[in-house]
Amino acid sequence: MNHIKAIAFDLYGTLFDVHSVVDQCDEAYPGRGREISIIWRQKQLEYTWLRSLMDRYVTFEQATEDALRYATRHLKLDLNDRIRTALCNAYLKLQPFPEVPHALSQCRQRGLKLAILSNGSPHSIASVVDSAGLRDCFDHLLSVDPVRIYKPHDRAYDLAETAFGVARGSILFVSSNGWDATGARYFGFPTAWINRGDNTFEEMGQKPDWTLRGLDDLSAVLDNRG
Ligand code: LAC
Repeated sequence: MNHIKAIAFDLYGTLFDVHSVVDQCDEAYPGRGREISIIWRQKQLEYTWLRSLMDRYVTFEQATEDALRYATRHLKLDLNDRIRTALCNAYLKLQPFPEVPHALSQCRQRGLKLAILSNGSPHSIASVVDSAGLRDCFDHLLSVDPVRIYKPHDRAYDLAETAFGVARGSILFVSSNGWDATGARYFGFPTAWINRGDNTFEEMGQKPDWTLRGLDDLSAVLDNRG
């Protein structure tokens, strides 16, 4: 992969674990943390896609809060202002996956430009990255907010090509979200799908160029060994 000049990473679920909020959910609703977190994340994604289809954009924080309201109402749990604020704040301090800091620094040592391209708002991306102390790893933190449409729309992926100023074929896109890897590939990015679990890739007419178990495996891809 010697023609790769830059890497754009998805944020939620790829670099940072969206289910690191389970503990805070458990504190508020003992024993229900995982269930809440799973519905919360799924609804958050659905709301971003539906709002893009309807052309009724709201920020990612708003979609996240709306999804939390749905998840708790669906599970017949009372969501007061204190818990809502605490859980939405927890989403701004998600934990990175363990291999992420080292893998990012290895990519940088190769002289590659790195960016995050996320559906998150500028504030939510900055909060998560800063709370993990990873700001210096990135040349760009790119939010879809300026184009007011979410991935997997082409206009969102276009932000990375514009920011890096190199052709899309030289930008490796890395995501653990199959729908995102699909959109990136349709856009024209070479794409690595991170499959940390035993997930099934989407059936939407694209396949990832590489399927990796974690970010550690990026080195092999970049060395042409993958
Ligand atoms: C991201 C989420 C939605 O764009 O995975 O970071």
